Amino acid sequence: MKILIVGSGGREHAIAWKLSQSRHHPEILIAPGNAGTASIGRNLPIAALSPDAVTAVAREHAVDLVIIGPELPLVEGVADTLRENGFLVLAPSAAAARIEGSKIFSKRLMEKTGIPTARFSVAETAVEALRVLEDFPVPVVLKADGLAAGKGVVIAHTLEEARTAVLDLMEAKALGDAGTRVVIEEFLVGEEVSFIILTDGVTVIPFPPAQDHKAIFDDDRGPNTGGMGAYSDSRILSPAMQAQILRDVVEPTLRGMEADGAPFTGFLFVGLMITADGPRVLEFNARLGDPEAQVLLMALDSDLVDLCLAAARRQLADVEVSWKSGPTVCIVHAAANYPGRPLVGQRIEGIREAESEGAIVFHAGTGVSGSDIVSTGGRVLGVTASGESLPQAIEAAYRASAHIHFEGMQRRSDIGTKGLKRW
Ligand SMILES: Nc1ncnc2c1ncn2[C@@H]1O[C@H](COP(=O)(O)OP(=O)(O)O)[C@@H](O)[C@H]1O
Ligand SMILES: [Mg+2]
Repeated sequence: MKILIVGSGGREHAIAWKLSQSRHHPEILIAPGNAGTASIGRNLPIAALSPDAVTAVAREHAVDLVIIGPELPLVEGVADTLRENGFLVLAPSAAAARIEGSKIFSKRLMEKTGIPTARFSVAETAVEALRVLEDFPVPVVLKADGLAAGKGVVIAHTLEEARTAVLDLMEAKALGDAGTRVVIEEFLVGEEVSFIILTDGVTVIPFPPAQDHKAIFDDDRGPNTGGMGAYSDSRILSPAMQAQILRDVVEPTLRGMEADGAPFTGFLFVGLMITADGPRVLEFNARLGDPEAQVLLMALDSDLVDLCLAAARRQLADVEVSWKSGPTVCIVHAAANYPGRPLVGQRIEGIREAESEGAIVFHAGTGVSGSDIVSTGGRVLGVTASGESLPQAIEAAYRASAHIHFEGMQRRSDIGTKGLKRW
């Protein structure tokens, strides 16, 4: 069996790693992949993650299943073109990926189906946005409608800041077309949780709850990044809260998408704020989160090939899923100057030593240069380890991480500590 993974980050390395342990012994192809995926399967160069380019690679290698990692190819309809050409795909259609690709679409879906979320208004022009702002107390949240690689949300603490953000987004077009329309919404207070499920549109397999760490510096200070680390821990959500989220959020979402003519299949990420009044949805992503994927796939006990095939074939009801006990922690090692323009081309040392401590080092922005592994992007590596308890998992991940070195490396020293209050 041949499986093609589309993407090149830590999430895709984690998917490749978990697939490689399958009893089916699949042949794994990654387009374009990184230095980590090259040690598991075969990296395939690809000009762009466009529908035609991905379909051409899938055809050339006659693959049996395609798994798509990042959001852009999902929103651009790579899954649709692959299916039209007869390939089995684990990923949502472009119509279903609107749940991530348009914040207005997802807020309207939540409104229509009664899913708990922040109170909001949609503005199509700057004039309208400035008027809508009068109806919201500060802090207030502004969200560009389209994909913005994590740069589309502004939390404004004064009306002045909010007005400036409106003008930046809607008049100066700081994010291009993504910010032509905006969602303005109520600021929610609480603890954030990443809740991910795998679905074939009907059956739902919930993953253990996880938390991401978006800010570049300790204590959630500094600018936001793609994610500086994550941990998974069943204690983040009580079983009752998890059941409530499945009933009040996940089920209505899937029914709403189906009713919209866009049934959702694949990984669905639900970003939640657990407020004093209960869980509220912040956003949906049409994929596995990154770095959440690293911790969740390490925590998965079942065969990922079985799960992916069943989901893609809409037979998820037939599979049993089991999880390893205990939390898992992933510490991201980022390049100098990230989340600004990263310093790349630095030689990375200590990966083997880190893995000899029992951790797995998932690669993100890495490449091979001669006999060296070098950095090629902002997020470079994710050192991932599990433990019987959260303190043990944190200790194991940091013990392994201590071996990693490259020039200008940035790493938070508090990944997972938010969860210690539950232990
Ligand atoms: N209504 C809100 N209240 C408080 N914080 C919010 C709200 N919406 C978003 N945020 C914060 O902003 C971050 C980014 O928002 P999100 O909707 O996840 O968009 P994206 O991931 O596309 O940037 C969230 O992770 C959360 O920390
Ligand atoms: Mg988000």
